[in-house]
Amino acid sequence: MKHRMENEILKAEVLIEAIPYIRTFAGSIVVVKYGGSAMVDEQLKKSVIQDIAMLKYIGLKPVVVHGGGKEITNMLDRLGKKSQFLDGLRVTDAETAQVAEMVLSGSISKSLVSELEQVGISAVGISGKDGSTLLCSKKLDEKGRDLGYVGTVEKVDTSLLETLLSNNFVPVVSPVGSDEEGSTYNINADYAASAVAGSLSAQKLVFLTDVEGILKDKDDPSSIIRTLSTKQAEAYIQDGTINGGMIPKVQCCLDGLAKGVKSVHILDGRVPHAILLEIFTTRGIGTMVTKEERS
Ligand code: ARG
Repeated sequence: MKHRMENEILKAEVLIEAIPYIRTFAGSIVVVKYGGSAMVDEQLKKSVIQDIAMLKYIGLKPVVVHGGGKEITNMLDRLGKKSQFLDGLRVTDAETAQVAEMVLSGSISKSLVSELEQVGISAVGISGKDGSTLLCSKKLDEKGRDLGYVGTVEKVDTSLLETLLSNNFVPVVSPVGSDEEGSTYNINADYAASAVAGSLSAQKLVFLTDVEGILKDKDDPSSIIRTLSTKQAEAYIQDGTINGGMIPKVQCCLDGLAKGVKSVHILDGRVPHAILLEIFTTRGIGTMVTKEERS
């Protein structure tokens, strides 16, 4: 009996720990980049939907930007569409871009919307094309080669997103956009999320990934860096502490911060309820990157 009571009190302490964060973050915009394992595993998917619903009910303003690389590959396979690759990067011809749009804006977006609706949240799926939210241009690869309809975001028009947010809807954004001529482009979802977060001056940009956070040693999860300033991040890239596959992730964080996001969080999407654990506890569970130097 005594034991049970102690357990109940612990639960209350968890809720109490959240008070300062609820107080600070209520009313502020949190952009969640949803991708990786959290999108494939049904249980994890459910936990992400619950977390987003929780953010909304507490009074934050979540915006979801989703990926879907795996699903696009599966669909291309099913259609028997052969792709050309340049150094492992898929060349997106017009037909591939069309399939990507079908998968992202059709199947993935609508399924997320429907799951949010199931837990009582009003959600609306848009792509970067709607309301000219994401105006794109062609993105060349590092070596200046043409990879087809892969876009980089040139301009974000936030009118539609703001209309949705001020009317209490949770926007679910697919990383698809068009250029001035109306051609369809597939956009890297990390960059789409950072462009959206920056243009909305979001309080937080949260990346759900398949790593624990930013690691000093990519093979050692215990080498996770819990908090990082832009200055430290740049120094770590310089001296090689942050290297290889970690660099693009960190670059995406820096990009978001440069665009005006207050903090960027890299979380392990394989952990159920990673979003709630990061935002509403003092310690968090991933890596938080901010502009200010933190001691
Ligand atoms: N919950 C607080 C926030 O969202 C602190 C998070 C700390 N996280 C970390 N990885 N150090 O701002």
